[in-house]
Amino acid sequence: MIEDRVVSPEYLEDDLEEIEEVTLRPNSFSEYVGQNKVKENLKVYITSAKKRGETLDHVLLYGPPGLGKTTLASIIANEMGSNIKITSGPAIEKAGDLAAILTNLQTNDVLFIDEIHRLNKSVEEVLYPALEDYRLDIVIGKGPSARSIRLDLPKFTLVGATTKVGSLSSPLRDRFGIIHKLELYTEKELAMIIKRSAEILEMKIDDDAAIEIGSRSRGTPRIANRLLKRVRDFAEFESKDTIDYNIAKKALDRLEIDEIGLDRNDIEMLETVITKFGGGPVGLDTLAASIGEDKDTVEDVYEPYLMQIGFLSRSPRGRIATKLAYNHLGIEFKEK
Ligand SMILES: Nc1ncnc2c1ncn2[C@@H]1O[C@H](COP(=O)(O)OP(=O)(O)O)[C@@H](O)[C@H]1O
Ligand SMILES: [Mg+2]
Repeated sequence: MIEDRVVSPEYLEDDLEEIEEVTLRPNSFSEYVGQNKVKENLKVYITSAKKRGETLDHVLLYGPPGLGKTTLASIIANEMGSNIKITSGPAIEKAGDLAAILTNLQTNDVLFIDEIHRLNKSVEEVLYPALEDYRLDIVIGKGPSARSIRLDLPKFTLVGATTKVGSLSSPLRDRFGIIHKLELYTEKELAMIIKRSAEILEMKIDDDAAIEIGSRSRGTPRIANRLLKRVRDFAEFESKDTIDYNIAKKALDRLEIDEIGLDRNDIEMLETVITKFGGGPVGLDTLAASIGEDKDTVEDVYEPYLMQIGFLSRSPRGRIATKLAYNHLGIEFKEK
C-alpha cells in the first residue's frame, strides 16, 4: 500500500515524522533551497508590502506533496515579521469555525489553509468578503429572529496550499493576487537539502553520497530527508561515522528504490500500462482501478515524477508509457 512507501511524498503513518520534520524545516528564504522564481517574486512582494506598510496580498501555492508549501507559508510569515495560524480545508467544518479563526487574527497575520481545495461551499462563501474587504457577515439566530451582523477584520494574508489547483473554485482562485506553482527539485538541489539536513542531524555525509540519495528522491525534499534518515540508520548499524557513497547505495538498494527513485509500485504501474494496455493511451480511471489505487493517488503521487522524468505522457485519450519507460524496464519498444 501507498502509505508504507518509503518514497511516498506524504507523511508516513508514524506521527513522529511530522514532528521531526519541523527541525529540518528552513526558517528563511536563504535556507530554502531552489524554487528560485517563486522565492524572487515573493521577496519583491514582501519587501514592497513592508515598505508601504501594507499587508501582503493573498498567496496561493500549488504543486505535489512534499515540495515545501507549508515551509514557504511559515517563511512568508517570518519574513513579514508576523504570526502564522495554521489550519486546513477539512478542519474548518462550519462557517462559524472560520469566523472564530478570522476574528482571532491580528493585523498582518498569515492565515495558512492547507488543502484549501477541500473547503466546503458555505465556508468559502464566508471567506470571500473576508479576503476582499476584510469583513465578516454572519447570521445569528434562526428563523424570523435571525439577523445578520457585520464585523470588521484586521488586514491579514491568506496563504492557501493545494495539490489540486484544478479543484479550486474559480471565485476562490480569483481572490489570490499571488499564485505560484512549486516545481520538482533537481538532483543537485536535493543534494544541498540533504547536506543541510545532515548537518542539523549532526552526521557527516560525502558529496557523492548526498547526490546518490538526491537522485533517488523523486524531486521531493520530504522524500530526500526520509531517505537520509534511513541511510543514517544503516550507517549507524555498521558503526560508520560518515555516510559515504557505498553505504548510501547499499541502504537504498536494500530499500528497493532503484537508481532513479522508482519503487515497486511505480514499476508495477508502468508495467500495467505497457503489458495490459499496449503502452496506452489508458484513461486515468481505468489505470487506477487496474492497479488498485484511487485516482487521486495516481494523479498526485505517482504521475508527477514519472512525467517529470519523461516516462509517462498525457494525451486527451489517456496516459502513455514512453520509450524511456520501456527502456528502463527492459521491454522492447515498437514504434506505433
Ligand atoms: N526548498 C526547501 N529547502 C529545504 N528543505 C525543504 C524545502 N522544501 C521542503 N523542504 C523540507 O521538506 C519538508 C516537507 O516540506 P513541506 O513544506 O511540509 O511540503 P508540503 O507542504 O509542500 O507538502 C520540510 O519539512 C523541509 O524539511
Ligand atoms: Mg504541507
